[in-house]
Amino acid sequence: MTIFVLTGAGISAESGLGTFRDPGGLWRRFDPMRLATPEAFAREPEEVHAFYNLRRRGVREAEPNAAHAALARLEAGLAARGGRLFLCTQNVDDLHERAGSRAVVHMHGELMRARCTACGASRPSAEDLGLGTACPACGRRGGMRPDVVWFGEMPLHLEAIGDALDAADLFVAIGTSGAVYPAAGFVARARAAGIPTREINLAPSDTAGLFDTADYGPATRAVPDFVAEILGEGPVSGSRP
Ligand code: OAD
Repeated sequence: MTIFVLTGAGISAESGLGTFRDPGGLWRRFDPMRLATPEAFAREPEEVHAFYNLRRRGVREAEPNAAHAALARLEAGLAARGGRLFLCTQNVDDLHERAGSRAVVHMHGELMRARCTACGASRPSAEDLGLGTACPACGRRGGMRPDVVWFGEMPLHLEAIGDALDAADLFVAIGTSGAVYPAAGFVARARAAGIPTREINLAPSDTAGLFDTADYGPATRAVPDFVAEILGEGPVSGSRP
């Protein structure tokens, strides 16, 4: 069995990382157009760096939770049975990796990497970035940016993601509001291909009506339950016959 899992900020919420659109969420407190666009970085680089340095510190201090751990178990368990997990995340944190997931596709980039706007080189970078940070590849200062996807930029790995989605036996969306495309369109694409779809979320998302089955509850409870169901080889209500 091949399972395509899409995760969003909700899976990291119980690790203490804020979501974007829930009450008190990041985009309710901060204007993304001033902090998460290439234009904002060109205009106010210090402000953008300060915002991402704060988020990076938050990620460093956070620990993976039971939902991240369950998906790492699912990856190993499916592989042992000749199947595969394709784990696609919109999250820029590294909690899936720290929980033990080996193959994680970060479609919105990674906060713990920095990219040079001059030469394009990307490298791991868990420390604060600033205008004085030099690119280790070309030496230029001032152009290092968080290696994340900003509004107006193209998400990453879309071809591999599309291929994996089309080949899946089950599509599962975990902790995502269904507000941001192209990820919000994956459920419709899966449906069109006849692939069963399941939503795991605290509450119905914007695209809830498109899912065949749903489990509404905190990710730390619902994701381990889902993984136990799959690996226990019990009845899976959303899987292909
Ligand atoms: P949102 O903040 O839009 O949605 C978070 C979702 O998580 C909501 O549907 C909540 O109901 C759910 N949620 C909250 N706590 C939960 C919990 N404990 N267990 C399960 N679910 C929970 O976050 P995303 O959908 O990830 O993009 O946002 C998508 C993209 O919008 C982000 O990747 C980011 C943002 O702009 C970029 O930065 C490019």
